Amino acid sequence: MCGIVGIVGSSPVAGRLVDALKRLEYRGYDSAGIATIHKGEMARCRAQGKLFNLERRLDSDPLRGMIGIAHTRWATHGVPNETNAHPHFVEGVAVVHNGIIENFSELRDELIAEGAVFETQTDTEVVAHLMAKYVRDGLEPRSAMLKMLNRVTGAYALAIMLQNDPGTIMAARSGPPLAIGYGSGEMFLGSDAIALSPFTNEITYLVDGDWAVLTRDGATILDFSGNEVHRPRQISQTAAYVVDKGNHRHFMEKEIYEQPEVISHALSHYVDFASNRISDNVNAIDFKTASGLAISACGTAYLAGLVGKYWFERYARLSVEIDVASEFRYREMPLSPSQAALFISQSGETADTLASLRYCKDHGLKIGAVVNVKESTIARESDAVFPIMAGPEIGVASTKAFTCQLAVLASLALGAAKARGTISAEQETELVRHLAEMPRIMSRVLNLIQPQMETLSRELSKCRDVLYLGRGTSFPLAMEGALKLKEISYIHAEGYAAGELKHGPIALIDENMPVIVIAPFDRFFDKTVSNMQEVAARGGRIIFITDEAGAAASKLPTMATIVLPNVNEIIAPMIFSLPIQLLAYHTAVFMGTDVDQPRNLAKSVTVE
Ligand code: AGP
Repeated sequence: MCGIVGIVGSSPVAGRLVDALKRLEYRGYDSAGIATIHKGEMARCRAQGKLFNLERRLDSDPLRGMIGIAHTRWATHGVPNETNAHPHFVEGVAVVHNGIIENFSELRDELIAEGAVFETQTDTEVVAHLMAKYVRDGLEPRSAMLKMLNRVTGAYALAIMLQNDPGTIMAARSGPPLAIGYGSGEMFLGSDAIALSPFTNEITYLVDGDWAVLTRDGATILDFSGNEVHRPRQISQTAAYVVDKGNHRHFMEKEIYEQPEVISHALSHYVDFASNRISDNVNAIDFKTASGLAISACGTAYLAGLVGKYWFERYARLSVEIDVASEFRYREMPLSPSQAALFISQSGETADTLASLRYCKDHGLKIGAVVNVKESTIARESDAVFPIMAGPEIGVASTKAFTCQLAVLASLALGAAKARGTISAEQETELVRHLAEMPRIMSRVLNLIQPQMETLSRELSKCRDVLYLGRGTSFPLAMEGALKLKEISYIHAEGYAAGELKHGPIALIDENMPVIVIAPFDRFFDKTVSNMQEVAARGGRIIFITDEAGAAASKLPTMATIVLPNVNEIIAPMIFSLPIQLLAYHTAVFMGTDVDQPRNLAKSVTVE
């Protein structure tokens, strides 16, 4: 989604604004721009496509000035071209915006009727026109801002500069996040702490319904009635992480290989390795008395939740209602305050997940957030926060966040089982011992399978369609494998419950269709092998992802068999995630796609 940066500085800002935008690239964008004020003149530079296009323009035509705002745009209203790129200028007002102005069409009609001329197809431009109109009517910049904020509706984050107020940036939040950063004699604004981390780690997050006035001396935060409000300053942990690719070609590759390390961080928060018991951190939600559990999330986080459902139901005997957040929020399902709810989100800012959370909150449920960004909106609005400790995930395709979400959900499910008395102390110790082995096994697997994944991916890169199959917790993994392949290689892929094969997808099977079967040697194994027989009988090419026991038990001919170590069922989903991530990654590399920022996708989806 769009990224916003602003600096009220004591030295030139253009280079720093572009550097900060680079740190927001991971969010996804298709055009970019910056605006500065120098000697009372406001100027801008915008370019379609990647940031190097903007940099090239700035090289030949630099922007000077010690105050500026900048933006990466992920198109919603209007095609991704230079005209629609932000900042938008209207009569000395510059605006950058993330989100959607829902009443833009009626405001646009009203402004056109009054003589305004619109240059873009964006919803954002109405903000610039409204501001210009109120300033023209004689309002002070702050009053104009307040009046404008009371006219627009929707989910938005805004940064606004006025040519006739060249020491000030105004910002507002109604939905997508915005953080204010405190420097020495300088102030910063950014969509997240990652953008601001080179400048400062002292951050204040605006709350929904806040707007702020930034000058070099500090920030004043107000509500939409114009009353000053106070928000805490905090030290962001983000600055502690080095956000670069290290020795890797892509962030995604780096993040795949970081998994053994970050999984141990995640586990150490929920597991007491000394006693091999689940730690008390899981009790932040009362699973013991909960009559049921509602889980909601989007994309990969939803698929992690789906794996979690198997664990909560099997180990804790707690029934789980789970749905993608965009459906959950509108289903009007009956909920009871005796239920607990979990919302899973890497970013902690996903609009649909947040709306589902609020729906559950309104119905009196206790809310738990399984998030990576601890300072995020979803975390802040929850009763209990379960951090996944994955560190910043920059690749748009989620990898380490997925396995860390799984590690946390496994721990929570075991914690719930312990609280509800559905596992014995011996079972708990045994299962925790398996969790503790996971980082070591992950390291081994990553080294073991790497060459085979590259060879196989070369084959996959020639395919048009791919089918993934699995049963039990391998079913959500099959969907995750297909999602990964789709989003970064653009190969059409579907993930199915293996038992559903006969009910439709089998019609697709021929000698051109690779079928990737995920089947550890578990209680579903024989059933899944029967489904593989059905594929083989129709000439389908099988890529079999199994373990040593599974490889020994199956005699079926395959295009390739990926053999992982035998592991306990509780950690199999995390271990079996590794080959599906690497297959997608190497396939995309062979195809030459933009692995870290695939087309049309955004890392943090802050609109519904
Ligand atoms: C995963 O690879 C995706 N890019 C996407 O499905 C993602 O998981 C989804 O948008 C949810 O994001 P969140 O975890 O930040 O809420």
